[in-house]
Amino acid sequence: MVIAGPRGVRLLEHPLIQHKLTLIRDRNTGVKEFRELVEEISLLMAYEVTRDLPLQEVEIVTPVAPAKSRVIQGKNLAVVAILRAGLGMVPGIIRLIPNAKVGHVGLYRDPVTLAPVQYYCNLPSDLSERDVVLVDPMLATGGSIARSIDILKDKGARSVQTMCIIAAPEGIDVVRDKHPDAEIFAAAVDDRLNDHGYIVPGLGDAGDRLFGTS
Ligand code: PRP
Ligand code: URA
Repeated sequence: MVIAGPRGVRLLEHPLIQHKLTLIRDRNTGVKEFRELVEEISLLMAYEVTRDLPLQEVEIVTPVAPAKSRVIQGKNLAVVAILRAGLGMVPGIIRLIPNAKVGHVGLYRDPVTLAPVQYYCNLPSDLSERDVVLVDPMLATGGSIARSIDILKDKGARSVQTMCIIAAPEGIDVVRDKHPDAEIFAAAVDDRLNDHGYIVPGLGDAGDRLFGTS
């Protein structure tokens, strides 16, 4: 179930997503469970985000008779993860779309300015033939996602949709101002950012919670 959320965000309100989101917000949830839940949430979100993928008709033969049936059009999709935390979302998505190509953009937030600093980029070479689902669990100031969309557009991506788990109002505004054409899907829009650029109430540092660092 996708509803129109605040600031044009498409909110994924499915009860399974909301239930699992509550579990990953809980500070007592450990690394193993956090990882599994992020994967499950991502799979459930991917189901909604891919709802409008174009289909094409093919001819097959069932055990009973020839039939015309539909498949997702080839060469359509690429999943791009923002390192590190976006990595946690990839397995859930490619369980649903095993042939999707996967790209990576490495960014970290400068601890003082909170501006994204790029350290890596490896994208499918045929991006101009693909619609991109850009994944990162956290949309905070919006810097990382806005920069990633810049990079994807520079490389010719046909379209970009962003899939994050928790978004902050401040970051949504930044991404929508810079990239009004890039749809944002989220499981929750939280209250605000704190003085350190963390989402409140959020879930803390997604990368640290996924990988057990701090
Ligand atoms: C986190 C998160 C996002 C970014 C969001 O990454 O995974 O990529 O912050 O913040 P923003 O919207 O203000 O840009 P972080 O910089 O902590 O790097 P990490 O994933 O490697 O820990
Ligand atoms: N990055 C995170 O991992 N969490 C936040 O709350 C903000 C940025």
